[in-house]
Amino acid sequence: MLKELKNSGLPIYMNEENGLLALSAPFVYKGFAQKKLSDMHGLFKDDSNHWEDEPIYDVYRGILDPAHSGLFEKYKFQYDITVVRGGLIGNESKKTSGHYHSWNEMNTSTYPEVYEVISGTAVYILQRADNFKNTDFENLHVSDLIAVRVYAGQAIIIPPNYGHCSVNGGEGPLVFSNLAYTPCTVDYAPVKYYHGLGAYVGYKDGRLMIEKNRNYKNLPRIKYAQVKENKDLGIVFNKPVYRSFKENPEAFDFLGNVDPYREQIMNMLDRKEELV
Ligand SMILES: [Fe+2]
Repeated sequence: MLKELKNSGLPIYMNEENGLLALSAPFVYKGFAQKKLSDMHGLFKDDSNHWEDEPIYDVYRGILDPAHSGLFEKYKFQYDITVVRGGLIGNESKKTSGHYHSWNEMNTSTYPEVYEVISGTAVYILQRADNFKNTDFENLHVSDLIAVRVYAGQAIIIPPNYGHCSVNGGEGPLVFSNLAYTPCTVDYAPVKYYHGLGAYVGYKDGRLMIEKNRNYKNLPRIKYAQVKENKDLGIVFNKPVYRSFKENPEAFDFLGNVDPYREQIMNMLDRKEELV
């Protein structure tokens, strides 16, 4: 059975038997990669007793209608889709590896990114550690740790200076897109050193559970947030990000030039007492 992924606004379908995506013409993607458990050793709390070849997540890079390639090149943006498989590793939900983004040219901020949940539910773990580049990992200083639950049709801007990973917060597959600035590079090493970000998310007795990653010595309290829209930054819930970008690419100026937008982006996180 093919399920249309309507929240993307694009002709993209999921084969529900094998979890793979198919695109209709004229849409194409430039690359595909699958991360298996063997590629992610040391990133889960406990991955013993699991099959090495177990698929964790698939990434479809550079999805576009070739008619829009000039627009993507002009702004140096790329649109990708990730499918995080359903299921647990130990009692932890499947997730992406997690990384920090590179600093901008002035070294004032790391680059942000837009994530849009297309199908399923995500929990994004956001972790601020300003010295991730210029210290030995043992002295990494985590100053803020936030878990954000994002539902299908919603989108989040990953704030500058926050490392992040995307956790499948539901039972079935999680499908999300990202819109990112292509000069930005990613750094996985500080996440790998600590066997993940500062919070592990999983299920116990059918409920979402969250706990601190005890490999970090001094973590702040885990905070919780929900996402808010911001029309000026192109984020309108239930409006596909691809379409928002095509209609008003200037709204996404923050992807390559984040400093003037830092406060607005942080204000899109609505702090809560618990994960909602
Ligand atoms: Fe990222």
